[in-house]
Amino acid sequence: MSLVQKFLLKKIVDPRGEIVIAEAQNEIPFEIRRIYFLKNLQSSHPRGFHAHKKLKQLAVCLTGSCKMILDNGHEKEIVHMDNSSEGILIDAMIWHEMYDFSSDCVFLVFADNQYDESDYIRNYSDFIGATK
Ligand code: TYD
Repeated sequence: MSLVQKFLLKKIVDPRGEIVIAEAQNEIPFEIRRIYFLKNLQSSHPRGFHAHKKLKQLAVCLTGSCKMILDNGHEKEIVHMDNSSEGILIDAMIWHEMYDFSSDCVFLVFADNQYDESDYIRNYSDFIGATK
């Protein structure tokens, strides 16, 4: 199975513009307990470089574009993100790195739990060890 699991958000277009909807258990495959976004990103400053032990997240590139590496410890895939109505699942135990941000990139994330530093694996060797 591909590491890249895409979830289409519900988009309604009419002459007034677009409304894009992400509802828990419909477009989002979990209950949402936290939302955060990244902005003012630099193409020279990649982000991420961690995995979560339990947290599930769905990432949406709201404006602009970027790339994300998803790595399960055995294989890696790169996804190009530039579609504001498409969410990419960052499942538990997926090492992820975001890079190549356009200057207008806004990166929105829905998470199924609150922030918890003890849920992070920030060392790649520890991550690989945990996937064996
Ligand atoms: P981090 O998850 O490491 O960011 P990225 O993966 O985008 O590089 O978080 C950056 C900092 O922000 C770190 O000090 C933890 C803090 N943080 C919170 O306090 N709450 C949150 O919900 C998130 C996502 C991060």
